[in-house]
Amino acid sequence: METQRQSAVMRACVIAVLVQLLLSGSQGLQCREVAGQLRQIDVSAGQVFGTDTADAIFTLYGGTWTQLPGALKHVTVGPSGIWGINSANAIFKLVDANWVQVPGQLKQIDAGGVQFVAGVNTADNIFCLGQEATVGYKGPGSPFPWQGLQGALKYYSCGPLGCWGVNATEDIFVRMGVTPQQCQGTGDWQQVDGKLSMIEVGSEGSVYGVNAAGDVYCRDGITSSNPAGTGWTQLSECGKSKHVSFDLGHLWVITQDNRIQDCS
Ligand SMILES: *[C@@H]1O[C@H](CO)[C@@H](O)[C@H](O)[C@H]1NC(C)=O
Repeated sequence: METQRQSAVMRACVIAVLVQLLLSGSQGLQCREVAGQLRQIDVSAGQVFGTDTADAIFTLYGGTWTQLPGALKHVTVGPSGIWGINSANAIFKLVDANWVQVPGQLKQIDAGGVQFVAGVNTADNIFCLGQEATVGYKGPGSPFPWQGLQGALKYYSCGPLGCWGVNATEDIFVRMGVTPQQCQGTGDWQQVDGKLSMIEVGSEGSVYGVNAAGDVYCRDGITSSNPAGTGWTQLSECGKSKHVSFDLGHLWVITQDNRIQDCS
């Protein structure tokens, strides 16, 4: 009985990932190698952005990687725009196709929240920027009132149903009640089972992560009434990886040797 229930829950995640393929009659997650090399990737609303080991910034347009001006070690795309972090941990926002520096310092940032951004600094302090500052850039001198969150995380990512993070010892946390007006959320961190090195929330709320061994996992059973989900399913088709991001039925995977895979 318990085994049946668990396997049903496990299948739920895979089915969510593979719904298009299953409908078309194919079986299993299929990964296709994409030309190029990246260190980090972020995808949202049909857009694909990434950075390589030389801090060059790329976006996929018409099937071709197009380099953007500037240098970043981390880039994010989402409902809250396109933001990045350079090697000195300075923060940039793409405004009118130019990188505008934003006050503050972070090592990682995420634009997946609904009209807010969030990230962590080198001391693993956690910050978010509410709706007004995130979407209402008014030129030089525009205020950026970063709000601190209690706790410590090395990676933090947000989506429509909440935010997920991992701490220095790879423990996993979810935070609910996060809104454009209250990006800090309400209540406490809820610890989730498992260990991951990085975690990303997709545009529709699905959650994927990579552990220290490079294995890729998808969170099962996430619904608006249970945003923390129910368990993890390993996606062994992805191979040894270091970074993932999910959008529109595609899981983009960066392998440990910086190759790019598009899995669907
Ligand atoms: C990570 O979270 C766990 C669970 O709350 C905690 O025991 C551990 O001390 C945390 N690690 C760090 C480095 O904060």
